[in-house]
Amino acid sequence: MSVLVTGGAGYIGSHVVRLLHQRSEPVLVVDGLSNGLRDRLGASQFLQLDLAAPNSKQALTDAIREHGVTSVIHLAAQKQVGVSVERPEFYYEQNIGGMSSLLSAMRDTGVDRLVFSSSAATYGIPDAEAVTEDSECHPINPYGETKLIGEWMGANAARSWGLRVANLRYFNVAGTGWPELADTAVMNLVPIVFSALKAGKSPIVFGDDYATPDGSCVRDYVHVHDLADAHLSALDYLERDERKHSTFNVGTGQGFSVFQVLAEIKRVTKIDFDIDIQPRRAGDPPYLCADVSRIKEELGWQSSRGLNEIIESAWSAIK
Ligand code: WQD
Repeated sequence: MSVLVTGGAGYIGSHVVRLLHQRSEPVLVVDGLSNGLRDRLGASQFLQLDLAAPNSKQALTDAIREHGVTSVIHLAAQKQVGVSVERPEFYYEQNIGGMSSLLSAMRDTGVDRLVFSSSAATYGIPDAEAVTEDSECHPINPYGETKLIGEWMGANAARSWGLRVANLRYFNVAGTGWPELADTAVMNLVPIVFSALKAGKSPIVFGDDYATPDGSCVRDYVHVHDLADAHLSALDYLERDERKHSTFNVGTGQGFSVFQVLAEIKRVTKIDFDIDIQPRRAGDPPYLCADVSRIKEELGWQSSRGLNEIIESAWSAIK
């Protein structure tokens, strides 16, 4: 019995793998290493494979059999919203193609439990301050579309051959559980601000004229260690008979504005920086926060780390 973690060499995947090791679960990591790092893997078995490559289905099928895989956590995907707009074909090829190969290999080998890494990007620009899983999904970029289609693919496999699937819709993930697993990409607010500070520049706020309490956008920032924990709760949920839902928001249920995040960064880093207010960034919803009732009730999971721990852990890993 082992758990296959695709994308297990990535920032989030390596946290999931670390927690599986702590539970003494044997792990097989499959990662193309296009963004992942080999030295994040610890004692896992490892297969380097791009899930969207032409031979991937057979290679995956062989690996699943060889390692006695009984469940899968699928995180491997491209995740840069901006690039997905510039190169939509690549995003469809990678994210949909990868999911397709994985589901075929799972069907052929009779592996019927899947935790799928989905995203709050599936919602697009919601009209509520906190979205429930039943809110309508209108993704506004190819990245979000590929995640929603991934959910549909899982739902169809559930109907067709009995796949048991849990989709986790991540909100804004940040922080680090272990310094060596820190987010090395500079793509989201917290790493972007740290990178600016290290270069002696002023952090940028995209828009201070939104209809929010302080005019900047509000997001639900979830600690990556808490998020990783949610994957284990989802695996356990798939084991149980009374499963009712397949899709779960993973957030804290609490929103923070960009200005509030910057204030916390100022407090933690003790750097007294100026803020550069720029025009709004295209496609930013004013609010994107999770209603977390369902995951709490059904999976018994809730976040336990706040904004302070997110900023402290991320800063101490890079300073
Ligand atoms: C957060 C807020 C920016 C940089 C993205 C994806 C989403 C999901 C999570 C994976 C926004 C503001 C940012 C800066 C700023 N990913 N900002 N100055 O866009 O909420 O969500 O990551 O599934 O799909 O879209 O995250 O970190 O880019 O921005 O003011 O230099 O910070 O405008 O309001 P976002 P982000």
